[in-house]
Order: sequence, then C-alpha cells, then structure tokens
Amino acid sequence: MQLSTISRWVAVIPALATAVAAYGNFSHTCQDIELVNTDVRATCLDEAASTLYTNELDLNLCVGLDQTTAQLKWELLGKFSLYCVNCALAWIPAPLLTCSCAPLTGGAAHNTTLDLDDGVGNSNGTLTCRTGQGVPASKPKRSN
Ligand SMILES: *[C@@H]1O[C@H](CO)[C@@H](O)[C@H](O)[C@H]1NC(C)=O
Ligand SMILES: *[C@@H]1O[C@H](CO)[C@@H](O)[C@H](O)[C@H]1NC(C)=O
Ligand SMILES: *[C@@H]1O[C@H](CO)[C@@H](O)[C@H](O)[C@H]1NC(C)=O
Repeated sequence: MQLSTISRWVAVIPALATAVAAYGNFSHTCQDIELVNTDVRATCLDEAASTLYTNELDLNLCVGLDQTTAQLKWELLGKFSLYCVNCALAWIPAPLLTCSCAPLTGGAAHNTTLDLDDGVGNSNGTLTCRTGQGVPASKPKRSN
C-alpha cells in the first residue's frame, strides 16, 4: 500500500514541477503593469511575440493571507482583500505587491509583500495564476 502511494507521488512530482514552471515571471513578457483594486492589469505578448493583449487578473482568485504568519501567500480563492488594505505595487527588484493585512486571529495589521512574478504567468498573452485561475475569455487586442 505505502509503496504504491510513494511511486504514484514520484510519478506526479515531475508533472507538478513542469506545471509550476509554466507560471511565473509575467513581468518579463508584459508591460504597463498596474494594480487596479484587486486586479493586476498588464499588456502581455503572445507566444509568437507578435501581438500585445491587455487583460486583468483578479488576485483574490489566487492570493490569500496566512492566518498564522499574517503573510500574503498563494492560495486558491484566497480572497486576500478580506484581510488587507492599502495595497500597492512596487517595482524594484520585481513586481512586489505590498498590503497592510490583519489576520482573523486579531493580530495588529502590518505590511506584507508578495512577489507577483512567483505566481502570475503570461500564458500566450493571457494573465494566469499559479493556482490555475486565468482570464481566458476576452483578450482585448492592442495595436503594436
Ligand atoms: C523567473 O526568472 C528568474 C530570474 O530570471 C529565474 O531564475 C526563474 O527560473 C524564472 N522562473 C520561471 C518559472 O520561469
Ligand atoms: C506600510 O506601508 C505603507 C506604504 O508604503 C507605509 O506608509 C507604512 O509606513 C508602512 N507601515 C509599516 C508599519 O511599515
Ligand atoms: C496563441 O495566441 C495566438 C493569437 O494571439 C494564436 O494564434 C495561437 O494559436 C496561440 N497559441 C497557442 C499555443 O495557443
């Protein structure tokens, strides 16, 4: 029983690593990156590096707050905005999201930062999240 469980994990881990590697570093192929409420908005190149698409990704779909450490973290449907205010996007050395967040446990609010390049990717011009969310529908095309 245990052996078969282990061998299944061995088979799954490389696939997971590949899936994660497909995400991240959106800022390398996107421009005009900004925070609009809880959305990250950017204009991103498609895979052919020929067309730019402007689109938005709601970070509430994939960023949450670790209630123990009070740090922003990648979390499916994390809804960080329930716990955080005064969010801003800084630029050096990466697209860093900083918010003032208070955990449900009642600790004081303090600033916490997440590198959006760790979990937001550019999938052929569409912003996607490491946890699987993206905005596949409308990709307004922007003239080059
Ligand atoms: C993102 O870029 C960094 C620095 O260039 C690199 O070390 C890392 O492997 C890249 N990650 C992905 C998922 O491409
Ligand atoms: C949190 O960040 C804001 C905006 O950068 C800053 O004004 C404030 O002083 C910071 N608070 C703390 C406790 O560092
Ligand atoms: C990427 O998007 C372009 C349109 O911008 C489309 O023609 C192409 O088939 C897409 N590539 C993949 C791998 O989906």
